[in-house]
Amino acid sequence: MSESDRTLYDEIKDFLQAERDVFGEFSITLPGDVTSKDTEPKSELAVEEEPEELPAEKFGSNRELTLEEKLAACASLEELHSLCEQAEELKTDLDNTNLVFGVGNPNADLMLIGEAPGEQEDLQGEPFVGAAGRLLNKILSAIKFNRDDVYIANILKHRPPGNRNPKPEECQKSLPYLYRQIEIIKPKLILCLGRISGNTMLNSERSLKDMRGKSHPFRDIELFVTYHPAALLRNPQWKRPTWEDVQTVRKRYDELGGKP
Ligand code: URA
Ligand code: URA
Repeated sequence: MSESDRTLYDEIKDFLQAERDVFGEFSITLPGDVTSKDTEPKSELAVEEEPEELPAEKFGSNRELTLEEKLAACASLEELHSLCEQAEELKTDLDNTNLVFGVGNPNADLMLIGEAPGEQEDLQGEPFVGAAGRLLNKILSAIKFNRDDVYIANILKHRPPGNRNPKPEECQKSLPYLYRQIEIIKPKLILCLGRISGNTMLNSERSLKDMRGKSHPFRDIELFVTYHPAALLRNPQWKRPTWEDVQTVRKRYDELGGKP
């Protein structure tokens, strides 16, 4: 077997292990693993080949995959959802919370990222379904989007106790999962809702005023930041700048050829 065959083998074995991790045990016949009865009888002259050492034996078949490998093995939102369901590290110190994975169009060109689930979101397992969510729906319809045209997620996938702000270490533990979610969805635009979402995505510590009103590069995506709808409920004077921000996002969406 050539070196490149072996590399491919390693990749396939790693992939299968990641699938097992997500979906449980299954078996598969590998090439060279010929056990069927109807093979040609061996010629007396045939040289016994050394059995190939399979990568699983090389590594030890119970090698624990790294998070990076598990995430890379997730090719769909369904697979990533299953991985998140098993991820204790996504939980906060509030007991018995539900996973709030994200909702909307899996091929959305615009992705909205809030902060963390609240009580209603935890109960229903869906982001932005409480009072802030109702305002978000109105904001979206003002720029001619339905909730299911876009994809909506949060920095945290579990509710923090008493709706406190997410802790920086909670954000850091959630980010790899959110990044993978973004890689699978491949939006053209991201709109961060609120200061915590914006600063977490931009790895900065800036004020909301400082971040809003312009686009920031995030990988090959244009990222915008605007006020959190819950902040607008308390501070209606921020509705005007929010309106301007979402108009800009809609304009860029159309200019970038976002799906109608
Ligand atoms: N606030 C958020 O940041 N996210 C939600 O899902 C709900 C309220
Ligand atoms: N400060 C915040 O934390 N969020 C906002 O949306 C506005 C101000």
